[in-house]
Amino acid sequence: MRIAVLASGNGSNFAAIVDFFQKEKLSVEIALVFSDKKNAFVLERAKKVGVATYQFSPQDFSDKKMYEKSLLELLQQEKIDLVVLAGYMRIIGPQLLAAFPKKIINIHPSLLPAFPGLHGIKDAYDYGVKVTGVTVHYIDDGVDTGPIIAQVPVLITTDDDLTSLETKIHQAEHQLYPAVLKEIVLEKQDRH
Ligand code: GAR
Repeated sequence: MRIAVLASGNGSNFAAIVDFFQKEKLSVEIALVFSDKKNAFVLERAKKVGVATYQFSPQDFSDKKMYEKSLLELLQQEKIDLVVLAGYMRIIGPQLLAAFPKKIINIHPSLLPAFPGLHGIKDAYDYGVKVTGVTVHYIDDGVDTGPIIAQVPVLITTDDDLTSLETKIHQAEHQLYPAVLKEIVLEKQDRH
C-alpha cells in the first residue's frame, strides 16, 4: 500500500503518522509528500525522514484544472493507493475525487459539521463553545462535508486561551489520525 500525504504547512500530523507507522511496523509506504506551498515546513520534515517531496502551486499553471491534472498524474505515476490530507488547505477538485473514490482522507480541527473551513480552532474558540474536537473524514465535493470516520472531543476550559487550545487540538490530532489511518490501511489490505 502506497500513501501520499498532501500538506500546506507545518506537517506535525505528517510527523505523527510517520512515527506511528514506524513503531507499529505497518507494511505501508509513505511514498511521497506533496505541498502546494513552496516554504511549507512539512517538506523539510519529509526530507529528514527520507520521504520523496514534490511541490507545485496553482499559480504555476494556466488554470486550476491543469494544477489538478498534474497532481493527479503525479499520484498515478507513483501508484498511490490512499491520499492523506494533513493540513492541505485547498479544495480537492472533481478530477482527483473521481480518480480516488473513498480514498482521500482529511483531518479537520473541529467537531464537524461545526466550524468547517480554514480556521476551525479559532472559530470554535471565538464562538465560546465548551466542547470542540477533531474529525477524520472522507473527502467529497463540499468543504469539510464528507462522511465522518472518527471524532474525539476536546474540552475548552476557563483556563484555555487560543494557544493552549491549539496545543490540545494538535495533541488530539496526533493521537487520532495515525490510529484511524492504521484501521483504514488494515481494512484495505484485508480486502486484497
Ligand atoms: C491541523 O490542525 C489540521 O487539522 C488543519 O491544519 C492543521 C495542520 O497542522 N487542517 C484544516 O484546517 C483543514 N481544513 P500540521 O501541518 O502541523 O499537521
